[in-house]
Amino acid sequence: MGVESSLNPAMDLVAEINRLRREKNAVILAHYYQDGAIQDIADFVGDSLDLSRKAASTDADMIVFCGVRFMAEVAKILSPEKKVVLPDMAAGCSLEDSCPPDDFKAFVEAHPDHMVLSYINCSAEVKALTDIIVTSSNAEHIVSQLPADQKLIFAPDRHLGGYLSRKLGRDMLLWPGTCIVHERFSEKELIKLQARHPGAPVAAHPECPDQIIRHADHVGSTSSILKFCTETDAETIIVATEPGIIHQMEKAAPEKTFIGAPGADGNCSCNTCPFMALNTMDKLYLCLKAEGPEIVLDEATRIRAEAPLRRMLEMSPAQSPAKDRTIVGADL
Ligand code: 13P
Ligand code: SF4
Repeated sequence: MGVESSLNPAMDLVAEINRLRREKNAVILAHYYQDGAIQDIADFVGDSLDLSRKAASTDADMIVFCGVRFMAEVAKILSPEKKVVLPDMAAGCSLEDSCPPDDFKAFVEAHPDHMVLSYINCSAEVKALTDIIVTSSNAEHIVSQLPADQKLIFAPDRHLGGYLSRKLGRDMLLWPGTCIVHERFSEKELIKLQARHPGAPVAAHPECPDQIIRHADHVGSTSSILKFCTETDAETIIVATEPGIIHQMEKAAPEKTFIGAPGADGNCSCNTCPFMALNTMDKLYLCLKAEGPEIVLDEATRIRAEAPLRRMLEMSPAQSPAKDRTIVGADL
């Protein structure tokens, strides 16, 4: 019997989640790629940088992280005294998988004159081998603060690294990792879609390959894409990132049409993140109730991973590009 079927169908899941989070002084943090119902029940929805900041500043006793494992690990690294739980511990990330810590350690050791920048989408072990962590929201801002002659390694996303390198005119040694979701967008199908919607701007995440980015009118983190899509005068916008974010766009601008960029089959269903999709409302309820699965990190690794994350927070722009969205339900 699966997890979902073990729940009483007559139970009011939303009311139970609200009761448990009150009882346990828990905060529910959710990424924009989560299912719409999870985003709607979360105390806070944001991009990786927003969520890191919330995790570092919350006074809750427990953080229920509705996102992928590396995000929940960041919450634990920054708030070690809190209990951090994740609805499904199998919610990984292809970028994390593409950068095994032992291989990365050997690579870093082979380039001792390079500063190591890692995208936050990596394991705690890789963070522990890093000088500064970046997210898609602050990478440009952080790299611009580094001396022009400083040699750089960028891991694990070669597309984000390539985008930064082209935009800032800086050479970087790129680790060859990719996001399986953003890699699936098809340039050919995107061009066909643009022809069907003349004038519709394209907003793309920098995890997309260059052949998608070069068609984009706006490139940025999930928060920045959300801001662009809701504030532009265009009535129809093509969105080249995980389609979960369209939920927030439709709430913020219901009069507009948001179209997910297509994969090779001409639609966007293949661009759903399979890792994010592992978290469900049922698993959210069960993990609040059981206070697990819990993120547990080796303390020495946690301490080494905290330094580059703190450096990131210090070097980040003061404000997130999108407005914080704090939900306080009427029954909380
Ligand atoms: P953001 O930091 O832009 O939300 O990106 C996280 C992510 O995993 C994108 O695939
Ligand atoms: Fe990782 Fe890509 Fe999923 Fe983001 S969308 S969590 S980068 S696999």
